[in-house]
Amino acid sequence: MANTILVGAQWGDEGKGKIIDYLTDEADIVVRSQGGNNAGHTIVHGSKKFVLHLIPSGILRRGKICVIGNGVVVDPLALVTEIRGLTGRGIKVGRNLLLSDCAHLVMPWHRALDEQRELRKGKNKIGTTKRGIGPAYGDKAARTGLRVGDLLDAESFTEKFRLRLRENNAVLRSLGAKPIPLQPFLRHYLAAAKALRPFIANTVVYLHEAMTRGRRLLFEGAQGTYLDLDLGTYPFVTSSNTTAGGACTGSGVPPHRMDTVIGVMKAYTTRVGEGPFPTEDDGVSDLLHGMGREFGATTGRARRCGWFDAVATRYAAMINGIDDLAITNLDGLDHVPVIKVCTAYRLDGKLLRHPPTEAAAWKRCRPVYTEFPGWMKPTSATRKFSRLPAAARRYVRALADLTGARLSIVSVGAGHDETIRL
Ligand code: IMP
Ligand code: MG
Repeated sequence: MANTILVGAQWGDEGKGKIIDYLTDEADIVVRSQGGNNAGHTIVHGSKKFVLHLIPSGILRRGKICVIGNGVVVDPLALVTEIRGLTGRGIKVGRNLLLSDCAHLVMPWHRALDEQRELRKGKNKIGTTKRGIGPAYGDKAARTGLRVGDLLDAESFTEKFRLRLRENNAVLRSLGAKPIPLQPFLRHYLAAAKALRPFIANTVVYLHEAMTRGRRLLFEGAQGTYLDLDLGTYPFVTSSNTTAGGACTGSGVPPHRMDTVIGVMKAYTTRVGEGPFPTEDDGVSDLLHGMGREFGATTGRARRCGWFDAVATRYAAMINGIDDLAITNLDGLDHVPVIKVCTAYRLDGKLLRHPPTEAAAWKRCRPVYTEFPGWMKPTSATRKFSRLPAAARRYVRALADLTGARLSIVSVGAGHDETIRL
């Protein structure tokens, strides 16, 4: 495998963790380039289930190097907890993990502000994960953030921590929220700083030297296309670039070194949090939740569910330059007699082939559906495309055609083996 960017083609939770784990066989280094511990990547390894938030999924494999790139926002306490959780379960985390010195830190005031801003928005809330992601990226853009490199010097870190705490506490007080006490937070951050120091590196130089030695990179996208800060359903988005370009700016690897883009999409659609979702359908939600599926890996929230939206995935293929598609969760539709696919939107009497750029207009779009007969058979034991029921083959082929990219992988279960390669 050449250098590959993997992105979510919908609203996140497309099953990227499992596909990354599958593709890691063919990569040497797995890189996270954006987002933070708002992400939740679920990987089933043998009989064990792992949920990763910050560390790339490659960590579960021996001999693979994992890089947390400069574009990620890192909550040091969460990262230490994640490392300890893995080592406690027998996964080695040492020289196989590198943390960019340029990545920004998520601080306690970011989490408090995330919560306060959501409260204040009332019914217009975004439905964030409350992990402080938006305020952390906000400070980065405002040039008032602290970075991983700041963890290297305890004395100057303490000074910066005090200053930033004072300013942010003034904001919290003005919002009617409780200020954050210096202790025990400073103590916890200094302890985390010490624990993380061995992992801190100039990951840009590391990645370029690795490429010179012929190492293959796999960029693990977090969230999904429509949560992209610039191209998603603003303001119902996350605060990073979740689309393919984010892999470059978030890692320091230039565009011409990227070879392919893989888009991951479910055979239906889900979304957590607020915002437009034209194909949302209570029947699909009830069915999937009834099967015990579609509860958030980070927050445990029940995901909103609906039919496959080809208007959305077509646009996602365009802006990410998706070459190959991995379609996941096909088995979720095993017992649906008639499956709908949205092929266009209707808005104010007009037929749209691309989504509107404004969330309010997007919310008013009505889906135009094509119906497909279901296959009404379990697919999870299938390992060959030709062995899938004919109706299932027709369905996934149609999804790829409507999206406009090559079908490469079909996932029929959470396990590593429950995968069909075309
Ligand atoms: P934030 O990233 O916590 O600020 O949340 C902003 C929006 O992105 C909310 O709708 C979240 O539910 C959504 N979101 C953030 N991370 C993920 C993810 O990893 N999967 C799915 N949705 C996410
Ligand atoms: Mg997730």
